[in-house]
Amino acid sequence: MSILRHAVLPLHAAALLTAEKSFCDNRVIGSPALNRRGLHVGRVALAERMADRRRRRLGRFADPADREAFARDGFVVRRDALPPDLFAALREEIETRTFEAREMRQGAAVTRFVDLPPAVLARNPALAATARGPLFQGLLRYVAATDADPILYLHTVITHPDRGAPDPQTAFHSDTFHPTAKGWLFLRDVEEADGPFTYVPGSHRLTAGRRAWEQAQSETAATAPNRLHARGSFRATAEEIAAMGFGEPVSFAVPANTLVVADTHGFHARGPSLRPSVRVALYGSLRRNPFLPWTGLDPLSLPGLAGRKGAAFGAWLDARERWLGKKSPQPRVGAVLAGDPTPRV
Ligand SMILES: [Fe+2]
Repeated sequence: MSILRHAVLPLHAAALLTAEKSFCDNRVIGSPALNRRGLHVGRVALAERMADRRRRRLGRFADPADREAFARDGFVVRRDALPPDLFAALREEIETRTFEAREMRQGAAVTRFVDLPPAVLARNPALAATARGPLFQGLLRYVAATDADPILYLHTVITHPDRGAPDPQTAFHSDTFHPTAKGWLFLRDVEEADGPFTYVPGSHRLTAGRRAWEQAQSETAATAPNRLHARGSFRATAEEIAAMGFGEPVSFAVPANTLVVADTHGFHARGPSLRPSVRVALYGSLRRNPFLPWTGLDPLSLPGLAGRKGAAFGAWLDARERWLGKKSPQPRVGAVLAGDPTPRV
């Protein structure tokens, strides 16, 4: 056993140069002794520096006003993101057609995902124009600091606050140790009572306050009782966020046709839902090895591969269930309306 434990160490050490983030699964990343010497905070600082450097070369993907807002806040908000005609056509496609979906339950919330591979986009021209359009693609690439192919879904969040355990996404957290982008183009109005996305402005930066907090977390995260925290998506309380010197979170209760793109390395959460609600959005996420010196050279952007990440991930979950008996966290639920308020899981 102990030979095996030692044999994996070089692999665990090599993962330092990747996006690997788990303190409880990787004995180098999670090592309290190494983290006391600054390993984790050094990784966070280097990833931030590399991202800043790459982002300077990606200025063409965002307007000056958006670049300025992002640098200050860690997110960009665009109201009336699409021209009215395109938005109306998009809404018509998404609200009236059924799509093959998967669903994932997390406590009182169910997230429905619809993959958008080229065949689905070919049948839905407004969706294709939006998902492949320069605004959605550009802001995701700029915020993620990489010119790569994002993963895209129709994304529905259904909440029933009185049913099930609290949704783990309602706790403030950082998705990972390095800059990473998530974006939502909301198809319907989102109101405060619906549990909108909330974000702590400026928390995407390694300020002195955040550095001290990251240092403290890194020394104990490997054995943290919260599994998500131990896997490197650090949870922070409101008191800790205030003690780091950040201000109040902002919540994105926004009208339909608003695009929000955020660096979810910064602290964010789903606001608590005060009533049953259904949020429907076109969603994109982009995360790549944070230590790459270059911005492009993304093999998954090549013709034939581009736009297939979501479908490939789904196929992998299905294969894992079939061959290894590992239950998929997002089972297929068949063809449904994206905004159907009744979950199948
Ligand atoms: Fe998150």
